[in-house]
Amino acid sequence: MNLQDPYRLPHHVRPTHYDLRIEPDLTAHSFIGHEVVTLTVTEPTSEILLNATELDISSAMVSAEGRQPRTGTVQIDEEHQRCRISFQQEIPVGIWILHLAFRGTLNDKLRGFYRSSYKDSHGVVRNLAATQFEATDARRAFPCWDEPHFKAMFAVTLVIDPSLTAISNTRIIEDRQEQGKRVVRFAESIKMSTYLVAFIVGELVATPPIMAQQTPVRLWSVPGKQHLTSFGHEIAVYSLNFLADYYGIPYPGDKLDLIAIPDFASGAMENLGAITFRETALLLDQRTATHAEQGRVADVVAHENAHMWFGDLVTMAWWNGLWLNEAFATFMEMLVVDAWKPQWERWTAFGIARAAALSVDGLLSTRPIEFPVRAPKEAEAMFDVLTYEKGASVLRMLEQHLGPTVFRDGVRHYLTSHAYGNAETTDLWVSLGHASQQNVPALMNEWIFSPGYPLLSLSVDTPSSLTLRQHRFTYAEDGSAAMSAAATLHWQIPVQLRIVTKQGAETRRVLLRERESRIPLPQDWTSILANEGGHGFYRVRYSAELLAGLQTRGLDKLDPVERFNLLNDTWASTIAGMVSPADYLALTEHFHGERDPHVWAVMLGSFSTLHQLLAEEDRPLLATLVRKRLASTFADLGWAPRADERELVRELRGDIIRALGTLGRDETVQAQAEEAYRALQTQTRPIDPNAIPALVSILAFTGDEVRYEEFARHFREATTPQEERRYLFSLAAFRNPALLERTLAKTLTDEVRTQDAPFLVSSLLHNVYIREKAWEFVKTHWERMDRLFPKSGLRRMCGGIVGLSTPELERDVRQFFATRKIDLGGKSLEQYLEQLHIAVRFGERDREAIRAVLTRRAT
Ligand code: BES
Ligand code: ZN
Repeated sequence: MNLQDPYRLPHHVRPTHYDLRIEPDLTAHSFIGHEVVTLTVTEPTSEILLNATELDISSAMVSAEGRQPRTGTVQIDEEHQRCRISFQQEIPVGIWILHLAFRGTLNDKLRGFYRSSYKDSHGVVRNLAATQFEATDARRAFPCWDEPHFKAMFAVTLVIDPSLTAISNTRIIEDRQEQGKRVVRFAESIKMSTYLVAFIVGELVATPPIMAQQTPVRLWSVPGKQHLTSFGHEIAVYSLNFLADYYGIPYPGDKLDLIAIPDFASGAMENLGAITFRETALLLDQRTATHAEQGRVADVVAHENAHMWFGDLVTMAWWNGLWLNEAFATFMEMLVVDAWKPQWERWTAFGIARAAALSVDGLLSTRPIEFPVRAPKEAEAMFDVLTYEKGASVLRMLEQHLGPTVFRDGVRHYLTSHAYGNAETTDLWVSLGHASQQNVPALMNEWIFSPGYPLLSLSVDTPSSLTLRQHRFTYAEDGSAAMSAAATLHWQIPVQLRIVTKQGAETRRVLLRERESRIPLPQDWTSILANEGGHGFYRVRYSAELLAGLQTRGLDKLDPVERFNLLNDTWASTIAGMVSPADYLALTEHFHGERDPHVWAVMLGSFSTLHQLLAEEDRPLLATLVRKRLASTFADLGWAPRADERELVRELRGDIIRALGTLGRDETVQAQAEEAYRALQTQTRPIDPNAIPALVSILAFTGDEVRYEEFARHFREATTPQEERRYLFSLAAFRNPALLERTLAKTLTDEVRTQDAPFLVSSLLHNVYIREKAWEFVKTHWERMDRLFPKSGLRRMCGGIVGLSTPELERDVRQFFATRKIDLGGKSLEQYLEQLHIAVRFGERDREAIRAVLTRRAT
């Protein structure tokens, strides 16, 4: 580490313990605080540097046993968010106690110590206060050593209105009245990082606890939502038990609270013992929630619980290693949910997340999973698809390569060795190497420390051998300078092959270390599949002969995830210009028997990309193709679920109906949707919840002003977070520009929470019927959005520019970001612009060919 780095704190003064007393005033939107920090001073010093920003520090003093207290002068460097406390005399080596008094604002930016609000059952606005400290916002709530490696114990006291409730990381050890206030003292925490500290104050209500071994687990929400907690509660308890068992270590806290906060920037936050969530990620009504909505809650709860060990007990030393936290929690989320509901096929669904990572990591503007970080903005930018989904993908690949038990033993070794401390990637390699007796760094370093991933090309050049070649996959035009630089990279790829002969199928595992290698084949092979099981983080390209072999054998012989990868890799190669649209569309013909919703998601996603790039007068051609492709599946599924039907089939039915009614413009389905929706409203006929989002999408797609106002009212009067979200986003799915403009306008009013508004704008930027105006709106109101929206939201909103895929818009977008010198931190803007460019290039290059294929097929 560079000690001159103004963003980093020196190491000769370290905190070991914080006594923290915070008194929020929910009406005045402010708080006052006092802290007593125990410090270890290892070099004499006349100043103490720590982090603070937007805090007013009124007094600073140090003391030590048997010494005179000394008063310090405080100077805040807002640019680097540091505070310097200077003393006239040097402070000698030893244990010192720092006393600080400070005050701050309960902000509305969903970070630090912030305010949130909701309407109670009488329609009266109520406030609450919550914290969100990751990555670097603990310093907005109390002055502290706000770097993850400065672990310390925290003893929190909250001084609140007697009518309110207070939650923090640990159990309450004292709750007394004092001068008309309620003083709530919490037990001392384990040694942990500042970003994990949490306090929540408001009129919150809890479920009764359920014990998970020794740990009481409760769910919290604002009043009136207690009936939405049972599903989240069940997965919370299940996952805590599962994880304690997998890690072989008891839960590190003394209780576990999961709290739904009405305003929340991300999905959830793994504060030890006090996990906070956005409402849609924790609360739901099991009778009306769709499969996807249930899956979301299960995922988020399992993910955050996984962090209690991976992240909280053992923490990355610095933000460059964020993947150790997030990739692992994401990986564990799949393991947990897969064990909980095997019928959900969570690892197949993970294909969608892996595909998202493959698509960003195919850009020249991608980055390695582990990546240098200095400023807070850069730390924030690390929370992206590469950290989460590429990270989790390569962990899954490694787990499958080493074997699940060996991998788990390595994880246990790692957690036990670094408990209450910090670790780096190399520490994980040591533990996994210890468990597996394999050279893990040689296998893994390229995947973690280099950008991109390989495209594995397969061909049979001589009758009895298979040739495997790897080179980096990119969307870039062949021959570009960046492309040839990229071509020098190569990986150790654990390749799992399925070789089928007349006698049957055989699995062959090879670790491809070279750029090219040949492996012997049996004489009578009939088909060969690479990436068997689908766990590899690479794409596959088959020679025409090999692709024909797979199709002759029948795609139904492949696992869903293998079909998923085949379709997804081919589609990516089409966008990259390596496969013709005609060939891609011909391949989709082989999927008429497909019944897996994840595989369908790839195909439907590709159709909606085509919808984006075609001119309006050509979209009916696409609609014809969509109807043709979906016909047999829809004929098979119909509208009504069968009693014994799998949940995934119900989900698929919803997806198929939605696609037919929107992209497919199927008038019968549209009319049926209308009728089904009426039946739902009048409760004359039960409707499977999984079909409801489809109805809403279709009716928005075909909807007029009356419908718009109806959906706007449903949004306001919704009784579950999911319903509220569904109707809000439906307001971005209409086609009438005048209505869509109303939605645009709403994004800057308090009708739409700032936690949701950026996503709504992004959705509008993707809607071809409003995208130009939406972009004008963003340009006009950029400053306001920048001020109003949470930072992470603003970044996600900018993701919407990828939808602006016309040459004119692209030019304008580039110019806007360049002249304003907008910096979102990290590489996300660069990535969005590159994705936009690729989309535009795809349209310009292939629009005519696509039109030609569609015309041919329509007639
Ligand atoms: N640690 C993150 C929350 C977070 C995100 C903090 C961004 C700071 C910046 C949490 O564990 C997380 O990953 N939440 C996810 C949900 C999860 C299921 C992928 C989220 O918020 O989207
Ligand atoms: Zn996480």
